[in-house]
Amino acid sequence: RIKRTAISAESAQQKKSKDLRVALQVFDKSYRTKEFLRDALLNNDFMKNLEMNQIMSIVDCMYPLEHKDGSLIIKEGDVGNLVYILEEGTVEVSKLNKVLTTMGPGRVFGELAILYNCTRTASIKALSNCKLWAVDRQTFQAIMMKAGMQKQAEHLELMKNIKSFEKLREDILSKIADVLDEVSYADGECIVRQGAKGDTFYIIAKGRARITEAKSKWDAPINIRHLERGESFGELALQSEETRPFNVIADDPNGVTCLVLDRQNYREMIANELSRLKREESFKCARRNVGDERDLKNLRL
Ligand code: CMP
Repeated sequence: RIKRTAISAESAQQKKSKDLRVALQVFDKSYRTKEFLRDALLNNDFMKNLEMNQIMSIVDCMYPLEHKDGSLIIKEGDVGNLVYILEEGTVEVSKLNKVLTTMGPGRVFGELAILYNCTRTASIKALSNCKLWAVDRQTFQAIMMKAGMQKQAEHLELMKNIKSFEKLREDILSKIADVLDEVSYADGECIVRQGAKGDTFYIIAKGRARITEAKSKWDAPINIRHLERGESFGELALQSEETRPFNVIADDPNGVTCLVLDRQNYREMIANELSRLKREESFKCARRNVGDERDLKNLRL
């Protein structure tokens, strides 16, 4: 059963990368056009939170198209396939035949049906001849997936170098990598507070943090050491019900990013697996000892 899981995980990964090779097609455009498209995406409430490399991949894959004055670009209720950026001209947005607004160059539209997998929420009509840029759903989703896979691979590499994880199989690490969340902290921000109840395990993905400890509640905390990228902390409070034994403070002018895992996932995916491996190890050890005793008896006979 375990073997089958590993193989299916691998083929899913292979399938994903194959899909990406097929889907991503880049269209040449000038530097100014790229800047224009990038700024348009960054000005859109739903797109601005994407990562910069995702934004730039969308820009690269956008292709030009035109719509004549009076043509219907998007019909409310349709299944949408394209996200648009208007370069020249004016469009009208309407819902249930009621005009909501008009939009000019630099506006993104058609993003809702692609982002939320719903039908078109409004109709868009060209009020003049329009020059547009578009990206299709498949390419858009491939870009999102590629970024997700790059993140997953990065998380996996970090976990492979954690000493206490060295006995965990790659398919287990890969599952953990899927559920890790990224949390960012500003320089000087407290990540873990001494004496607090702990529910989270942390791996430093970016930046540097400082461990400090106060000997008593009347003493000022003193610096113990620094934690760098790839180092982890927080497991002690998850293994027992104990409180955090020290403070961890972000100590990097560019901030710190941690990969975090909650108590339940830590227990189910890491602690349980490590105890299972430990039991297996002691069982093998016991069998070896029995074998040794038998050999000894045979020798005596
Ligand atoms: P989508 O639902 O994919 O297709 C219709 C598009 O119209 C929608 O994405 C938005 O981009 C845009 N849209 C919907 N409602 C409004 C609104 N109230 N104002 C401006 N644009 C809108």
